[in-house]
Amino acid sequence: MTTVAKGLEGVVAAESAISAIENGMLFYRGIDIDTLAERSNFEEVVYLLWHGRLPKRSELDALRSALLEEARVPDDVLELLRRAPKDAHPMSVLRTAVSALALYDPEADVMTEAANIRKAVRLVAKTPTLIAAWHRLRQGKEPILETESAFTAERFLAMFHGQKPEPEAVEALDKALVLHADHEFNASTFAARVTVGTLADLYSGVVSALGALKGPLHGGANEQVMKMLEEIGTPERVEAVIRETLERKERIMGFGHRVYKQGDPRARHLKRMSERLTAKIGEPHWFQMSEAIEALVGALKGLKPNVDFYSATVYHSLGIPRDFFTPIFAMSRMAGWTAHILEQYADNRLIRPRAEYVGPKNVSYVPIEARG
Ligand code: ACO
Repeated sequence: MTTVAKGLEGVVAAESAISAIENGMLFYRGIDIDTLAERSNFEEVVYLLWHGRLPKRSELDALRSALLEEARVPDDVLELLRRAPKDAHPMSVLRTAVSALALYDPEADVMTEAANIRKAVRLVAKTPTLIAAWHRLRQGKEPILETESAFTAERFLAMFHGQKPEPEAVEALDKALVLHADHEFNASTFAARVTVGTLADLYSGVVSALGALKGPLHGGANEQVMKMLEEIGTPERVEAVIRETLERKERIMGFGHRVYKQGDPRARHLKRMSERLTAKIGEPHWFQMSEAIEALVGALKGLKPNVDFYSATVYHSLGIPRDFFTPIFAMSRMAGWTAHILEQYADNRLIRPRAEYVGPKNVSYVPIEARG
């Protein structure tokens, strides 16, 4: 009888040199997330994840130019978005659109490292455009496809809202993108690695990852957090609603983590941003409710907020509708997924675990005419 690690808990599935979780801290290529959140920026982190070191000025400039150059999406993919049902979930639209990008990339099935890095650049560049385009199209507006900014956060907000964003909004989104960019063998990254472990192409890997990220136990939790806050409505109702939810044995979204038991190091940065930004938009009650929920869930269940909890009110403060929260997570994690796919290809072995069979045995085949 073998021991089953349900949910692969505690299983070390491969070696990786991309990100590490150690003593409750998160590191990208050996640099701690606190330093990166305070001093770095998204494009620098993308370079770091892909190449294993921080870029020189010229390398960073070159990456930013490449991202700007690759930001446009093929007309046929835009046409696909135009025809999508307006009530389709943005994560479903993004998953479908990213899959469609492969059809128009002549290098989609070219498996050299250089081609894979070019595809990674295209994906990080085009994902913000796809998300912003869908936001505008579903409101019956024309997408904005041209912006001058080579900064992902600024370009995205300009395309999404149709106006030049305030520097504080750009800074907040940039920091959120840095904090979400990679996270070791989380479910979506592992899904990407399983897919490319068969030597399927890079697009197939990120489409698998997008599917895994969508679920509410993973990236989909940020949308559910905002839904919960909106349903609670006022700080006075927090206590009753949270207690009732826990009594029904339901989960409080944005709490708990498979690896972090003493708190998620990304959450405190998002908490600070949430306090500042909710006050700035004149809706401090979202932060007050979040803090009250944090205290109550901590006291009743001993659970701490994860990355998704305070990111919800940060994105809300940036004027982003809640069903776009997970696509924004994806926009950042695209960097980590592609870094892991490159690492998987570089030293590949098919990922194929075993199952402990618990079904019936020695069952005889009954011909169809004899079945009751
Ligand atoms: N609310 C209430 N109870 C919880 C929560 C929660 N958010 N999270 C864990 N628990 C409880 C479970 O009910 C279980 O209790 P029990 O032993 O009495 O049955 C115990 O804590 C352990 O839970 P597991 O599900 O075994 O923990 P696991 O490591 O499998 O799950 C997960 C981790 C999925 C993140 C879980 O904490 C959860 O569902 N959280 C809510 C969803 C969420 O916020 N997901 C985002 C995670 S971060 C990310 O992916 C980006």
